Amino acid sequence: MKNKFRFLFLGDIFGKPGRRSLLSNLKDIQKEMNVDFTVANGENLAHGNGINEKGFYEVLEAGVDVVTSGNHLFGVKQVLKIIDETDQLLIPANYPKGVPGQRLGIYEVAKGLKTMIINLHGRVLINTEFDCPFRTLEDLLAKYSDFEGPIWVDFHAEATSEKRAMGLYFDGKISGIFGTHTHIQTSDERIMPNGTAYITDLGMCGPYDSVIGITLKSVIKNFLYSTPSRFEVASSQPSIQGIAVDYSVKDAKAVHIERVFRQY
Ligand SMILES: [Fe+2]
Repeated sequence: MKNKFRFLFLGDIFGKPGRRSLLSNLKDIQKEMNVDFTVANGENLAHGNGINEKGFYEVLEAGVDVVTSGNHLFGVKQVLKIIDETDQLLIPANYPKGVPGQRLGIYEVAKGLKTMIINLHGRVLINTEFDCPFRTLEDLLAKYSDFEGPIWVDFHAEATSEKRAMGLYFDGKISGIFGTHTHIQTSDERIMPNGTAYITDLGMCGPYDSVIGITLKSVIKNFLYSTPSRFEVASSQPSIQGIAVDYSVKDAKAVHIERVFRQY
């Protein structure tokens, strides 16, 4: 078995432009960058809100291995069917007890290497009716303390402070933690002092020339007049954003992180 494995983590897939950019380009990126495993946040993949069946399977066909989610998970009712039929969709592990869905996934990357993916949800400046993400992760790590492969966390959260605190608190305890939800890629990717790979936000797979995926025309009334309007998914400049992380089996930790930012 080889020693280094490359993981690709992609920011929120936004509507058809996001799905199309992945269908057209992800396999080329994976080949060019020698990617072994790909995770993407998909909570906005259906028209910018929720996860529909057609869109979900399009994203898998494009080359995504696991789809994580967040506050818009239940935006489309069809998601309940997807939850029933696949183990490739994760819901935030700190959803209150009783919410349907898989809260953690263990997947084979290659013969002899399994990886664990966990999705969590923030509670600052966003929906607050979630259990504590910090304690949820602590409990999961204690429960799976025998797990030997890389453990990665998608922390779907609004506040940079909450994401930074989460990253530093779990530095050295997991392989990597990556923020999603703001759709704006940050430039603070690094391997933290105790060896955990980190970035505050992965960015977005979707129309870059937009207001986090939406046309300016359809959203500006909200800002100018505080009146609601119907959001339209923008169609310009599809982009693919995220990070690639190399995991060393010998060192049992992330050894390299780099940003991915492509525009088409
Ligand atoms: Fe979100």
